[in-house]
Amino acid sequence: MIGKKMEEALNGQINAELYSAYLYLSMEAYFGGENLPGFANWMRVQTQEELMHAMKIYDYVAERGGRVVLKAIEQPPAKWNSPLSVFEAVYKHEQKVTGLINDLVNLAVEEKDHATNSFLQWFVTEQVEEEDNASTVLGQLKLIKDSPQALFMMDKEMGQRVFRPPATEGE
Ligand code: FEO
Repeated sequence: MIGKKMEEALNGQINAELYSAYLYLSMEAYFGGENLPGFANWMRVQTQEELMHAMKIYDYVAERGGRVVLKAIEQPPAKWNSPLSVFEAVYKHEQKVTGLINDLVNLAVEEKDHATNSFLQWFVTEQVEEEDNASTVLGQLKLIKDSPQALFMMDKEMGQRVFRPPATEGE
């Protein structure tokens, strides 16, 4: 059985992951409007990743005999100035999420909740990848600066990203 404090904190993280999905879905809409379908695809995959994160926590809370309580999801921004400013926001957001995960791990340690601590380690590792993905794209966008040709090429590459559900990971 999960403790009340941990349950509440995990419910908060479900909300944060759903907000992340909402944010990236809004970024997908932005890229769609900018005629960058590859970048839009990247965001669709990222949205699916975030929904998977939320469901992973949802299932865990239920599995531990806790109660999932869904809260309102904040409205994400709808406009950005450039692909570069979008990815600056993505990188910043992922760093914030890493901080939230670290706070949850700290709480699990404080509460002596070893099961939740162990569960959260997947997210600790995942955040390394999440930050790396964002900073790689951000770095590339900084390199290409204002070159439309390079942006066009990059869009093609971003279109290759595919969502891999956890069950098929590593296959
Ligand atoms: Fe769920 Fe992008 O971290």
